[in-house]
Amino acid sequence: MASPTIVAAGVGKRFLLHHKRATSLKERLLLHRQSSSEAFWALRDVDLQIGAGQTVGLIGPNGSGKSTLLKVLSGILAPTTGTVSVRGRIASLLELGAGFNGELTGRENIYLNAAILGLSRRETERYFDEIVAFAELEPFIDNQVKHYSSGQYVRLGFAVAVHVSPDILLVDEVLAVGDESFQRKCLNKIGEFQQRGCTILFVTHALDLIPRICSRGVVLDHGRVLHDGDPVEAAERLRSLLGTGADQSGGGAGPAAERPRVTAVRLFDPASGAEKGHFRGGEAMAVEFDVASPAGSAPVAVRLAVTGPADVPMWVMDSDPLHPGPDGLATVRFTVKELPQLKGIYAFAVAVRDPASNVTYDARRFSEAFLAVGDTGTGVLEVVWTTEQVENQVER
Ligand SMILES: Nc1ncnc2c1ncn2[C@@H]1O[C@H](COP(=O)(O)OP(=O)(O)OP(=O)(O)O)[C@@H](O)[C@H]1O
Ligand SMILES: [Mg+2]
Repeated sequence: MASPTIVAAGVGKRFLLHHKRATSLKERLLLHRQSSSEAFWALRDVDLQIGAGQTVGLIGPNGSGKSTLLKVLSGILAPTTGTVSVRGRIASLLELGAGFNGELTGRENIYLNAAILGLSRRETERYFDEIVAFAELEPFIDNQVKHYSSGQYVRLGFAVAVHVSPDILLVDEVLAVGDESFQRKCLNKIGEFQQRGCTILFVTHALDLIPRICSRGVVLDHGRVLHDGDPVEAAERLRSLLGTGADQSGGGAGPAAERPRVTAVRLFDPASGAEKGHFRGGEAMAVEFDVASPAGSAPVAVRLAVTGPADVPMWVMDSDPLHPGPDGLATVRFTVKELPQLKGIYAFAVAVRDPASNVTYDARRFSEAFLAVGDTGTGVLEVVWTTEQVENQVER
């Protein structure tokens, strides 16, 4: 490996979880004495050496510490144990809007952000038009960014980050927020960076991306590195951890096959019956699930729950009991007559249940579904459902 650009040695990050919020000074003092906070290690013993020019995909279940690791590497959070050393100009795209001031306009934020990333005013001026064009924000550049949609935020952040010629690029899941054309543009840009020898560490839930663009995959689980190496193996490792491995989707044997479970999901236009990945607010949408049950199973019911921005429940639908055919398969279809005209991040979860006892056999969450403002800038909303990334949801 070329001399490493990023070295993390024995890195741990501990957070304190407060169980009760003190509302008065007296309570605060009491709480302090009762030490009602509990230490929680979001990262534990992380050793990582990333050489110049590597592209590393960082993956892991929700809450496994990916974002925390990026923050520690970029210097936003100090590690509780261990050390981090980074060589080179680092540009990081962490949480949505991190680094932007909502009261300032897009234009002002570009200058501010570029300055933080180490660009002079003259350099920023040289790149300004390119940044705005890349972000496709020409008409909005003099609006305050607090009025930007989540997609516009990410475009601006990515555009600035990629125009400051960093040596190291840290990217946290932003690709999931942009629409398809922007995602393609980001991937092209990442390709250019790779050619220029930039070091890239990026977090994604799109597991199929890992082998496509990474030379290495790191899997985090409960704050520890579970796998570090081959990207294909990394994606497989995470799939098996999430219970969404290939062995579970084809009706194979094994413990998972002994319970009814969802084996396929399809999204389509209910009027034409054509499969479809993009929907707009106001349009009708049908979602179909295949459920496989072991021979001789009792009927099962399927529940579909959709949550909107800020995890607000939008709707919950329960199917009638499904009677599996002789092959153990049953299909259920839910139709949404009119998708809401609300922008933001949407997620849907599906559960296969025993309608008599309400026991949940299988629960999955599809977190990559979202509504984003369309490219036209006219406020048309688009729903993009990606059903490739299936995550297990904790059963309630
Ligand atoms: N400031 C904080 N205070 C307390 N706990 C925190 C803090 N930041 C993160 N955590 C906790 O640390 C753990 C790791 O969080 P982190 O955001 O790094 O996970 P992640 O792998 O990025 O998850 P996701 O896939 O959902 O983005 C979680 O349990 C989270 O609740
Ligand atoms: Mg995260």
